[in-house]
Amino acid sequence: MAAKDISARGPVHVAIIMDGNGRWATSRGWPRLIGHRRGANRVRSIVRAAPTLGIRYLTIYAFSTENWKRSTEEVLGLMSLFARYIRNEADKLHDAGVCVRFIGARERLEPALRDLMAGIEEKTRHCSRLTLTIAINYGGRDELARAARRVAEDVAAGRLAAADVDERALADRLDTVGLPDPDLVIRTSGESRISNYLLWQSAYSEFEFTDTLWPDFTPDELAKLVARFSARDRRFGGVAAE
Ligand code: FPP
Repeated sequence: MAAKDISARGPVHVAIIMDGNGRWATSRGWPRLIGHRRGANRVRSIVRAAPTLGIRYLTIYAFSTENWKRSTEEVLGLMSLFARYIRNEADKLHDAGVCVRFIGARERLEPALRDLMAGIEEKTRHCSRLTLTIAINYGGRDELARAARRVAEDVAAGRLAAADVDERALADRLDTVGLPDPDLVIRTSGESRISNYLLWQSAYSEFEFTDTLWPDFTPDELAKLVARFSARDRRFGGVAAE
C-alpha cells in the first residue's frame, strides 16, 4: 500500500503535549492550579471527541520527569488532580469503551496514586474503542535508559543473545510496548519543542504546533489538525507516491 493511502485514513494514534495551563491561568491573575483544573476538563472533552474522529490511540503528556522541579504546591496539586480524574472518570471511561494505561516510571509516585492507576488499568483492560495512554513521570530518555537496562539484564541472564539486540528488542521493552507509533504529535501553546516526549516512537511522526493554550484547545481544533494530517504525504523515508 502506498504511504499516501495510510495518511489518507487519518491519524490512528495522536499524541499530545498539553502545554499552556500555567499561562492560561496567570494571564487571568489566577493560580496555576486553576489552569491545570481547566486542562483536566479539556482532557475529558478531547477523549470524548477522539474516537468520533477515527482516533484509536490517544497519548497525553500529563507530567514529565522534569516537572518535579516545579513548586511543591504545584506538584502536589497535579498529583491530586490525577487521582481525582481517575476516581471520577473510571466508570465513565469504562462505559465509553476507553482502555486506560500509563507510561512513565511509577516508583516515585505515591502508593495511593499507583493503586488508582493500577485499578483503572485493570478495570478498562478489555475496552477497545479508544486506548488512552497517560504519561506520568515520563521522560523519553528515562524510558530508553530503563529499556536498555532490561536488555542488559536479559542478556546477563542468558534470556537474550547480544547479537539479537535490535530495534524490536528495545521497542518490546519500552513502556509503550503494544502501542503503534504516533502518527501525529500535537503541542499546544506556541512552543515548538519535543520536551523529551516519545523520542523513540515519534521517529516518523508528523508534528503540529498550535498557539492555542491547552485549556482553550477544543475538539473542533483537533478535528482541523486531523483533517490537515490526512492531506499530508507521508513517505517514511521513501519517495513520494504517484
Ligand atoms: C503544561 O502546562 C501542563 C502540565 C505540566 C500538566 C498537564 C496536566 C493537565 C492537563 C491536567 C490534567 C491531566 C489529566 C490526565 C487529568 P504548563 O503548566 O507548563 O503551562 P505554562 O507553560 O503556561 O506554564
